[in-house]
Amino acid sequence: MTSYRITLLPGDGIGPEITDVARQLLDAVSRRHGFELVYDEQPMGGAAIDATGEPLPASTLAACKAADAVLLAAIGSPQYDALPREKRPESGLLGLRAGMGLFANLRPVTIIPALIDASTLKREVIEGVDLLVVRELTGGVYFGTPKGRVEADGHVRGFNTMAYFDYEIDRIAKVGFDLARQRSGRLCSVDKANVLDVSQLWRDRVEALHASSYSDVALSHMYVDNAAMQLVRNPRQFDVLLTSNLFGDILSDEAAMLSGSIGMLPSASLGESGPGLFEPIHGSAPDIARQDKANPMAMVLSAAMLLRVGLKQDAAAADLEAAVDRVLAAGYRTGDLMAEGCTPLGCKAMGDQLLAALEAAQPA
Ligand code: IPM
Ligand code: MG
Repeated sequence: MTSYRITLLPGDGIGPEITDVARQLLDAVSRRHGFELVYDEQPMGGAAIDATGEPLPASTLAACKAADAVLLAAIGSPQYDALPREKRPESGLLGLRAGMGLFANLRPVTIIPALIDASTLKREVIEGVDLLVVRELTGGVYFGTPKGRVEADGHVRGFNTMAYFDYEIDRIAKVGFDLARQRSGRLCSVDKANVLDVSQLWRDRVEALHASSYSDVALSHMYVDNAAMQLVRNPRQFDVLLTSNLFGDILSDEAAMLSGSIGMLPSASLGESGPGLFEPIHGSAPDIARQDKANPMAMVLSAAMLLRVGLKQDAAAADLEAAVDRVLAAGYRTGDLMAEGCTPLGCKAMGDQLLAALEAAQPA
């Protein structure tokens, strides 16, 4: 039997609860499709700080690199905010992305029909939205140097550096163009080339690559402020949105709300080779942790992305996605999505419904 090694990083806050649900579903779906998943659970984020003093212990990074795929729930909690930046949970996540070479972050946004009225936007604006944010993940202002804090002229000055090498732009642009080819053939590159030198280089490289290798893809450019506006004005105009680390962070949270709840969106982070990292785009929601209130669906959909993109188990992935669709169509909702006439469920009970929906259907 084919067997895969999955490194599990439950992390903080609601992380462990949604990991339990995802694991149950992964076990069930792998049994149905005749392969085996062997888990290696590792501490990460605040959980790792408590256990070892480090947000990303070397043993966790090593286990992630040795896996066939990594599934991360969420990290972070206000109790660590006072620590020096390099000791905080978020630094562990950045270290993991850098350490695994995961420069390409894919954040798909689709509208599940049963949730169309859960969005704060009007039905006619979001109906049919199907877009993909391709975010550069290991460069830009998140990692640029110099950075820090200095005293100058009797004042304190904080600073970071937004910088990209040509090759960093080229490799993420290739990912964007290739995905656009597999989808509707449209790529919109988002930058701030009217103001930033780093963005002008971004635009120049994307145009050069388009001319040399991807002239069949319909390329457009948009300034990030306009893109933020267009995402809520007319999101259907977008297919693949290619953008840098910080702009992608901001635009993907905005795009997530098209779908009704940030609790619905999965993501994949990929490198040139080696295992991918799959995680919901939402955070650790410490305010509702351990209260059985979390929405496990983004985590389950991240597990589906792990199966499809990471392990090439497309049919198993489709089964998980169909289970999510069916449970929502049957009117079951966690608190973040609750609407009149629907049945409210906690995290665990939602997991049970997903499992029942999976078992009740024919395998894909
Ligand atoms: C995300 C998150 C992270 C980021 C944080 C937790 C470091 O917001 O994955 O979008 O800024 O990249
Ligand atoms: Mg973010």
